[in-house]
Amino acid sequence: MAEIRLENVGHSYDGGATFALNPISLTWKDGNAVALLGPSGCGKTTLLNIISGLLTPSVGRVYFDDVDVTDLDTAKRNVAQVFQFPVLYDTMTVRENLAFPLKNRNVEKDAISARVEEIAELLGISKYLDIRPLKLRSDLQQLVSLGRGLVRKDVPAILFDEPLTVIDQNFKWTLRGRLKEMHNTTRHTLVYVTHDQTEALTFADEVLVLNQGSIVQSGTASDLFLTPEHEFVGFFIGSPGMNFLDGKVFDGAVIVGSTQIGTAESKSPIANGNIRIGIRPEFLSLSTSGNGVAVKINRVENRGGYKLVHADAKEGKYVAKLATDSNFTAGQSAHLEFDSQRTYLFRDSKVCGTVNTKGAK
Ligand SMILES: Nc1ncnc2c1ncn2[C@@H]1O[C@H](COP(=O)(O)OP(=O)(O)OP(=O)(O)O)[C@@H](O)[C@H]1O
Ligand SMILES: [Mg+2]
Repeated sequence: MAEIRLENVGHSYDGGATFALNPISLTWKDGNAVALLGPSGCGKTTLLNIISGLLTPSVGRVYFDDVDVTDLDTAKRNVAQVFQFPVLYDTMTVRENLAFPLKNRNVEKDAISARVEEIAELLGISKYLDIRPLKLRSDLQQLVSLGRGLVRKDVPAILFDEPLTVIDQNFKWTLRGRLKEMHNTTRHTLVYVTHDQTEALTFADEVLVLNQGSIVQSGTASDLFLTPEHEFVGFFIGSPGMNFLDGKVFDGAVIVGSTQIGTAESKSPIANGNIRIGIRPEFLSLSTSGNGVAVKINRVENRGGYKLVHADAKEGKYVAKLATDSNFTAGQSAHLEFDSQRTYLFRDSKVCGTVNTKGAK
């Protein structure tokens, strides 16, 4: 187990012309489960490979428990890494594949057998132990690969690069639960790369959201949902993501089209001018009376547990997530109501305040 610390670490694949990972500094506490979440190409694998030592960063230093490991190769860093696709030896059985990392470290025979059985049980692959891996389906092969990553207890960190991509959707849930359980007992430092927000949010103590080579926010699942600091987090986290609309701030009043929806609240005064307003569908409600932004309901999606109401205003389109017993219908006129605590103002994509809707005229 180890604390992982990055100091100004960045990487360019083209000699400095562009950075796949812009220089970042961070510390992950020993024993934490951290998820790296972001769209394809945002730099997740680059960051993971820098930690494992497969890639030497163009700039910055990497520390494990205050030891500078930047120039150590992967083997010397002693971390386990599980890749997106299976990496297995087909000259060995599944049992031998699982045992291999332990055998390499001269672990005693009985201890190896016991640990291999334990990991096979955890992953539901006990009955395949004496088969060669390439005879198995690809999802089972990936479980074996995952097992090889998990089998050693003495690694400072385990790094996963989208390990569940090829696993069946239902089993993914089970497996995620088992990994989480395992983490609660072993408290390895886990770094888990994914582009799936559910996977990241259910698995990790801390989620880092990456976009275009930069960390835009890190926090718990609730932080990212309730207090997005960047438009990208509003958009990327949540299902569906945040509603955004263009508005204006004038002498503290927040105006959408010709309607004042509230007053701006912020630590430092917000200059007059254009602004983006963001509100999650969960915090938007509709009323048939009132004088909020006028909308016409375009479509109602009944999702069983809730309804998604799509509404059009002159100024833009909105989605509200309403209780399943709400009875708005397509074609109806209504007014939008914004939750005062959860309506955010963004400038240059960064949050700069909230909207107190109680101040609306
Ligand atoms: N070996 C390489 N040589 C040149 N460019 C690379 C190399 N590996 C990655 N890149 C580029 O660096 C950027 C970040 O790539 P990276 O693989 O880290 O993204 P990722 O977030 O893991 O994406 P994905 O979700 O698709 O796996 C991308 O623009 C990618 O094209
Ligand atoms: Mg990747």
